[in-house]
Order: sequence, then C-alpha cells, then structure tokens
Amino acid sequence: MTIARDLHEDNRRSWNAATRAHNSHKRDQAAFLRSGGSTLFPEELELVGELSGRSLLHLCCNAGQDTLSLARLGARATGIDISDEAIAFAQQLSADAGVPAEFERADVYDWLPRAARERRRFDRVFMTYGVLGWMSDLDLLFRGIAGVLEHGGRVVSLEFHPAAGVFDEKLQLRFPYFRDAGPYRWDDGVSDYVALSGEALTPSGWIDGEKDFKNPHVVWEFPHSVSELVGAALGAGLRIEAVREWPYANGFRPFQNMRELPGRRFTVPEGLPELPLMLGVVATKP
Ligand SMILES: C[S@@+](CC[C@H](N)C(=O)[O-])C[C@H]1O[C@@H](n2cnc3c(N)ncnc32)[C@H](O)[C@@H]1O
Repeated sequence: MTIARDLHEDNRRSWNAATRAHNSHKRDQAAFLRSGGSTLFPEELELVGELSGRSLLHLCCNAGQDTLSLARLGARATGIDISDEAIAFAQQLSADAGVPAEFERADVYDWLPRAARERRRFDRVFMTYGVLGWMSDLDLLFRGIAGVLEHGGRVVSLEFHPAAGVFDEKLQLRFPYFRDAGPYRWDDGVSDYVALSGEALTPSGWIDGEKDFKNPHVVWEFPHSVSELVGAALGAGLRIEAVREWPYANGFRPFQNMRELPGRRFTVPEGLPELPLMLGVVATKP
C-alpha cells in the first residue's frame, strides 16, 4: 500500500461532519477542563508515563480533549488532525479552558516528514482509540514517527483490538482478520458513536445535541493486523518495549448488549468468553 491521499480527503469530510455531531452531545467541555477534569483513561496514562516537562505529539487528536488533558499533566503538547472542524474546535477549547497547546490541521503523512525536515523532535508520540484504521500505510507512518522522535523517546499506540474487528455489531463473525483486500468503503461515513456510547464518552456531561445524525460523506478504512503494527514499528528501527491487551473497551460499545464495567468500560455480553478488545504497543527510539 502507498499513501492514499484522495481517500484521506474523503475521510476528512466525513470526520468534519461527525466531529460536529460528537461535540453536540458534550456539555461545557471548557468548564470541565478548567475545573480539573480529564478525558484520559488509566491505561494510556500508564503507557505514556511521566509527562512533566516533556514534549508530546498527539497524532489524530480530533477535537483536542485528550491533548489538553495531557497538557494539564505537564506536557508541551502539539495535536495534529486532518479535520478542519476538529482543529478549529480544539483551538477554541484550548483558549476557553486556559490550557495552552498547539494544534495544526494536516494529514499526518504530510506533517511528519515536514516536521522532521524542520528538525522538530518530541519525547512522546501518542495515538489512541481509532487512529491506525485511518492510516493507509503503517510502515510509512512509523518511519515518519521515528523521524520526529528524540533518541530515547517513546511512541504509544492504544487501539481497539484488530481481532475484535472480525465481528459485526451482533458479534457474528463477519469480516476477515487478514484484510489485504482493503481499503473498505463505508457509505454511511463516520457514525455518531458518541450518541451510541452516551455518558461513557461524555465525561463533561451528556446533552441530547444532534439527533438521528446521518453522515453524508463516505469514509475509507484501512484495517491492520497486530503483526503489521509490530512489524511497522520494528521496520522503522524502533524497539518494542511493551505489548498489552485488555478484555474491555474504554468508552466504546462496538457490539450490542455489551456489559458495562466500572470506569466507563465495556466488555462482551454476560455469559460469553472474554475477547481482547484493546491493544497497547509502546516502542522507543534507541
Ligand atoms: C477516532 S478519532 C481519534 C480520537 C482521538 N484519540 C481523541 O483524542 O479524541 C480519529 C481522528 O483521526 C483523524 N484522522 C483520520 N485520518 C487522518 C490523517 N490521515 N491525518 C490526520 N488525522 C487523521 C480524524 O480526523 C479523527 O479526528
């Protein structure tokens, strides 16, 4: 695969529409951040480690809630996202919440080589919860990341587990795990999954917001297996420090009738055997 820039542009339009719908359900997010609120879960905090005084690059940061929560922990944070709507919202949220961070709108495949040429370097690169599936070439992504990491710096990827992606919402086996045939086109675009997850994805408080959202923009997905992810990190000269799996998904209900666990987490319905639902990989630049 090479970089599918035209498909990324379709994705940009779809994310613009979805991000507006998502934020319409979230109560005063600036007040939430100002009063010390955080959108982060313990799993990503453990993987990213101490942040005080560190430079952090947040790839595919969407509307910046996690970026600003990371900045509040002492990181000098820069968030990158392809969506105009997401970056405009993030910049406004940063100003309204009084939490400084830089936000830039770009396709990561354009931004990373440019930043490397400009000799920008980061102690941490962070990408979580629905990033890799939009990346048309994982090898190039990790080479780009290696180009902006400081020596000794760390990249953290925390994702919904690709093995769980073989099921449809009724937990029926539907999609192949090895999807060399991708990318997949979804005509109904990025969904209003915030409405489906409710309070689990609205720590600042739920409001009804946009109802019956229909995304007019198609979206393209590029599924990647665990070995592709690990191989891309190794191929970029990074050292794998940790690989973790969890039997629950943070803030997200990929299947019907999921069982809610404490801490805004969801696992498979009662009576079913556990599945890996999240995958974490930490790699460093020697
Ligand atoms: C599921 S969201 C990630 C959520 C994020 N972890 C957060 O903190 O809210 C996926 C994001 O990836 C962005 N994205 C998709 N393709 C991209 C690309 N090629 N370059 C930059 N951002 C991209 C989308 O605009 C969207 O905001």
